[in-house]
Amino acid sequence: ALPRDLAGRRVVVSAGGTREALDPVRYLGNRSSGRQGYALARVAAQRGAHVTLVAAHTADLGDPAAVEVVRVGSALELRDAMHAAAKDADAVVMAAAVADFRPDALAAHKIKKDGSEPPPLRLALNPDILVELVAAREPGQVVVGFAAETGDEAGDPLHHGRAKLARKGCDLLVVNAVGDGRAFEVPDNSGWLLGADGSEKELEAGSKALLASHVWDAVAARLD
Ligand code: C5P
Repeated sequence: ALPRDLAGRRVVVSAGGTREALDPVRYLGNRSSGRQGYALARVAAQRGAHVTLVAAHTADLGDPAAVEVVRVGSALELRDAMHAAAKDADAVVMAAAVADFRPDALAAHKIKKDGSEPPPLRLALNPDILVELVAAREPGQVVVGFAAETGDEAGDPLHHGRAKLARKGCDLLVVNAVGDGRAFEVPDNSGWLLGADGSEKELEAGSKALLASHVWDAVAARLD
């Protein structure tokens, strides 16, 4: 049986990928399935928390039991829903894949193919919701981010994760090593759980539910 260590706590989890509309029928999107966020919501509810799941576009997952689900489409909708839900929350987990950019204008009608020139695609920057949530957080609220990182010339995924944790200002950051078919659209996840206190825990490859348990263990320890 799972511990009931989140009983009486309110937690908010975002999941899935945002869709940024170009016109009434088209959008810019990403490949997030929402599985990790749903696992986080399900496990938190099993551990006794009152859970609000803010779900952007996901695979066909089915609502987790005993979880309040708020559906959103775009990054700007996700932002509003997160700020509203985070107000009286003990913990906030940003597992959603938020589009960094959106089309800078939403065409009122379907964009037509006319002539030989494709229309220009101009983008606007979306807000960084995680950074905003950190800035707006109540005293004692624990904020968790996710980062999908590949290694490159500048460093390994862990190195990039540390820098991102500092930049975002959250309490915990789950770093997933991606590339080579890892993490996206697959049931397993692995990586590291980094704490703003300098802690670092390697997360062996395992189910998204197992990774969720590690996240809630770390959150529960910080709430005590
Ligand atoms: O900077 P990067 O997109 O890698 O950061 C990932 C983390 O930041 C995730 O927790 C994601 O949910 C969050 N994020 C956000 N708003 C954005 C982009 C990412 O909250 N516009």
